[in-house]
Amino acid sequence: MVTEILPLGKESLARAKALLLSGELVAFPTETVYGLGADARSDAAVENIYRVKGRPSDNPLIVHVHQDFDIASLVEDVQPYAARLRKAFLPGPLTLVYKSRGAVSAKVSCGLDTLAVRVPSHPCAQQFLRYVDIPVAAPSANISKHVSPVSAQHVYDDLMGKIPLILDGGMCSGGIESTVCDVTGEYPVVLRQGLVSREMIAEVAGRCDLYVPKTGEQVRSPGMKYKHYAPACRTFLFEAEEAVRALACYREYAEKAERVFVLCEDGAADIFPAEHTLLLGKTAQEMAANLYKLLRLAERKADVLIAVKPKERGGVMDGVLNRLCKACAGEEK
Ligand code: TXA
Ligand code: MG
Repeated sequence: MVTEILPLGKESLARAKALLLSGELVAFPTETVYGLGADARSDAAVENIYRVKGRPSDNPLIVHVHQDFDIASLVEDVQPYAARLRKAFLPGPLTLVYKSRGAVSAKVSCGLDTLAVRVPSHPCAQQFLRYVDIPVAAPSANISKHVSPVSAQHVYDDLMGKIPLILDGGMCSGGIESTVCDVTGEYPVVLRQGLVSREMIAEVAGRCDLYVPKTGEQVRSPGMKYKHYAPACRTFLFEAEEAVRALACYREYAEKAERVFVLCEDGAADIFPAEHTLLLGKTAQEMAANLYKLLRLAERKADVLIAVKPKERGGVMDGVLNRLCKACAGEEK
């Protein structure tokens, strides 16, 4: 199969709609990462997603809709605070998990009685979703467990020959996947951290917890149990306070004539050789926007990547740390 990359326009939108309605997959940009879209109402189309990504069949998908889509046709919306969250944060990088009405393929939620719904803010995503006007099931458009794609080229690198069309909307500005938040209970519970932080949700809803799976319990957001977002090189992860050990690790591998790179926040970079350092940025938002781009660059340039955690904690940084740890927690040092 030939994979086309087309900018968003009249022709590409018409082609995207025809492909979706015939059960094919179309990749499209969002403000977080690129999505791999399928008609959420079709079992066969949704199965296609799992097959193409090599995704475990117990990891449910998010349904994407445009801003004016009637979500009451998809889910039961009973908690008053959910409407307040939608008003405060949507369209944007917040996915809400509701009780499902069973209006889409059961394969979207892998048999769960809930449905995750997202209204992305990227203008291209809005235009695409409005044009097709159906619920679009879409995971990140990468091979399962690899780093999520933040450009059309990243999607192409993973899925070339496997999907017919990538809609190109440039680089994603957010850079890490949406916050996933369960709104079925008395108060919201964050299942996956992201650019809308637990603190921001608590401010609007009065309270918000972070879901931490108890050992032995069935996880509520199954996707979070897998090693994820991993670049195709050896990785080591150090605490912010362990910069000296990170430098020793750098030297150890550099002496073996391997291609070694360090990934760290701007403020921690001065002790590492500049030409072998990948700068994450200064703020949590900058680091979110740069993380996946740098992990994909690292796997092209490096045999060994030495990541140093940023110092800050809380808010958006928790989402950045969550992804960095899952991507680089390859080996202890
Ligand atoms: O930013 C994003 O959310 C991107 C873009 C494309 O929109 N999508 C994305 O999808 O990250 P994916 O499939 O890579 O991650 C979906 C996450 C997983 O952690 C999954 O377990 C969780 O959402 N999820 C989906 N449906 C769920 C449900 N019904 N209950 C609990 N968690 C759910
Ligand atoms: Mg993903």
